[in-house]
Amino acid sequence: MYSVLRPLLFALDPTTSHKLAMRALASVEYVAPIRAAVRAAYAVRDPRLEVRKMGLVFPTPVGLAAGLDKNAERPRALAALGFGHVELGTVTAEAQGPNPPPNLFRLPADRALVNRLGFPNEGAAHVGARVGARRSGIGVPVGVSIGKSRSVPLEPLEGAIEDYLKSFRAVMDVADFVVVNVSSPNTKDLRALQAADVARPLFAALVAEAKKRERALPLLVKIAPDLSDEAIDAVCDEAKAAGLAGVVATNTTISREGLETPAVEIERIGAGGLSGKPLLSRSLSVVKRVRARMGSSACVIGVGGVDSTESALAMLRVGADLVQVYTGFIYEGPALPGSIARGLLRRMEAEGATSIAELVRGHAHPTNGAAVTARA
Ligand SMILES: Cc1cc2nc3c(=O)[nH]c(=O)nc-3n(C[C@H](O)[C@H](O)[C@H](O)COP(=O)(O)O)c2cc1C
Repeated sequence: MYSVLRPLLFALDPTTSHKLAMRALASVEYVAPIRAAVRAAYAVRDPRLEVRKMGLVFPTPVGLAAGLDKNAERPRALAALGFGHVELGTVTAEAQGPNPPPNLFRLPADRALVNRLGFPNEGAAHVGARVGARRSGIGVPVGVSIGKSRSVPLEPLEGAIEDYLKSFRAVMDVADFVVVNVSSPNTKDLRALQAADVARPLFAALVAEAKKRERALPLLVKIAPDLSDEAIDAVCDEAKAAGLAGVVATNTTISREGLETPAVEIERIGAGGLSGKPLLSRSLSVVKRVRARMGSSACVIGVGGVDSTESALAMLRVGADLVQVYTGFIYEGPALPGSIARGLLRRMEAEGATSIAELVRGHAHPTNGAAVTARA
């Protein structure tokens, strides 16, 4: 079905196709029987796929990455398509528009996208209220990503921290987990917040705010793939020291290395974050490093170039507890989360595993070197 629709959607500019696709999901979002039918057709539910982490139960390890549903307009529909969690946002304390168009580009030869949207969203308070109203119909854990408002400078740091706190307070009662986005390349200076001395007070302020609540609320930090190994270790150390629940790795990259798309085209597109297939190998190494640094109890969410059962399993085998997809969903279509889940079940059956953990460890086949070494 999507193979018929995709050429039509891809004939339009990416922003228009995104709007059309979101509009097409309206009936799934608002009409419960249609949603139930979509869920029955797309979502795969099998206890062997369950992942328990951060005190939450994820029905499958395959989630939706931040940025696709920035305003929480279609969370119930997206969950019905088979995602095991949805990360909504990124929201900011102040409502803000996108960077000037064009700001979203397809690189079909690379199965990639470049975007410089810059957190367009209706504001954390508005989006938080919407998530609250729809939460019961979503049925899978809901993460909300928070970022810094464009108009708020990084200096003085207290101002930037207060801006994050405002967003945090607006979403903390409706989210199952919150992701602190300090890694988008499209908000000026944002990524400087990954530096240890800046991350420390930011994480401390958010953790202190989270502790005021009765219910524990897991906080994660989302990091860029462009960090050096030392910088990855440093931000992980800060996350651990502050008591964060985990790390989402990775955001989009500013690198343009190794692309099939002609250099003139890349030049014409200009600045922005690259996502999709070319990101996979870097994201895998970042996830591996993050897992080693964070230890086994932290939650590590692997994102970047996942578009198949193989890439999802590779992400799990380098240490991710959960994976997320964005660009793969655009290229492969709405059946992707279900098809990855079914693929994981097939692999379990082939390898005699009865859970994701066993599949990842290569439990049933200790002679299978790739599987055994991955989660060491
Ligand atoms: C158009 C677009 C918008 C995005 N917006 C956000 C965002 O608002 N917040 C965020 O944390 N990540 C955002 N991302 C990054 C994705 O969540 C993800 O980390 C990245 O695209 C790599 O995954 P992928 O290769 O599966 O797309 C965006 C990505 C794309 C392509």
